[in-house]
Amino acid sequence: MMEASRGVSLLLLVIIGCSLCLVCRAQIPIPARTDGFVYGGKPPTWGETVVIEAFNDPVCPDSRDAWPELKKVVEHYGSKVSLIVHLFPLPYHHYAFIASRSIHTVNKINSSFVFPLLEKFFKCQEDYYNQPTYKKPTAVVVDEITKNLVVPVIGKTSLPAYKAGFNDSWSDQATRISFKYGCARGVTGTPYFFVNGIPLNVSGSPLEYKYWTDIIDPLVTQKLRATPSGSFKNVLAEMA
Ligand SMILES: *[C@@H]1O[C@H](CO)[C@@H](O)[C@H](O)[C@H]1NC(C)=O
Ligand SMILES: *[C@@H]1O[C@H](CO)[C@@H](O)[C@H](O)[C@H]1NC(C)=O
Ligand SMILES: *[C@@H]1O[C@H](CO)[C@@H](O)[C@H](O)[C@H]1NC(C)=O
Repeated sequence: MMEASRGVSLLLLVIIGCSLCLVCRAQIPIPARTDGFVYGGKPPTWGETVVIEAFNDPVCPDSRDAWPELKKVVEHYGSKVSLIVHLFPLPYHHYAFIASRSIHTVNKINSSFVFPLLEKFFKCQEDYYNQPTYKKPTAVVVDEITKNLVVPVIGKTSLPAYKAGFNDSWSDQATRISFKYGCARGVTGTPYFFVNGIPLNVSGSPLEYKYWTDIIDPLVTQKLRATPSGSFKNVLAEMA
C-alpha cells in the first residue's frame, strides 16, 4: 500500500512538473503590427491574394541566390500574388543580426528604403561573412555597413536619423521579434518559404522560376467565389 501510494505521488510530481514547464514557457513578445515587409507595394488582400512569405537572412548566400527568381515570379503574377519578406538572422552568420537591424532601422525612416538596402546586402554580403570580419571590431563593421551600404540607399541627410535609430533599443527589439517570429513558425534556415501559410519543403536552396510557377499557377487560377449557377460545389470538389 505504502509502495503504491509512493508510486502515485511520484507520478503526480512528474505530471505537475511537466505542466509547470509548459506554463513557464515565456510569451513571445507580440509586436504592435505583424512582422514582415510588403514587396512591390502589393499588400495581401485577405481571401483574394496568393501570399508568398520568404524568410531571408541578408548575409546568407542562398537567400541572395533565390531572390532574383522570386522577384520575377511575383512581378509576373501582378496583383494576384503578394510577397512578404521576413528577416531571419541566422545565429551562425555573425553579422546577420546587425544587417537585419539596419534594415529595420531604414524602414522606420522610409519603408521604400527596405528592399534597396536588402539588395545592397545581397550584392555586397561577401564582405560581411564571418571570415573577412573575424578580426575586425564590431564598431568598425557597423561603420563600414553604414558607409558602404546604408548611406548610398538613404542619402547623407537621413544619416543622423539612421544612427540614432540603429542605436535605439527599438530596432534591437524589432530584429529580435523577426527572429522569434521565424522560430515560432518553425523556420530553421534561409531562405524559407510559405505559400498561403503552408511551408514549402525546399528551404535553404534557391528555387527555379518553373518550380514557382508549378506551385502558383494552379492557385491563382482557382475560382473561390460562388457563382449564380452554383459552381461553388465544383470548386470544392476540385480542391478535395
Ligand atoms: C520615401 O521615399 C520615397 C522614394 O524615395 C519618396 O517618394 C517619399 O516621399 C518618401 N517618404 C517620406 C515620408 O519621406
Ligand atoms: C551608439 O552607441 C554607441 C555604443 O553604445 C555609442 O558609442 C555611440 O555614440 C552611439 N551613437 C549614437 C549616434 O547615438
Ligand atoms: C517536396 O515536395 C514535392 C511535392 O510533393 C516533391 O516532389 C519533392 O520531392 C519534395 N522535395 C523534397 C526535398 O522532399
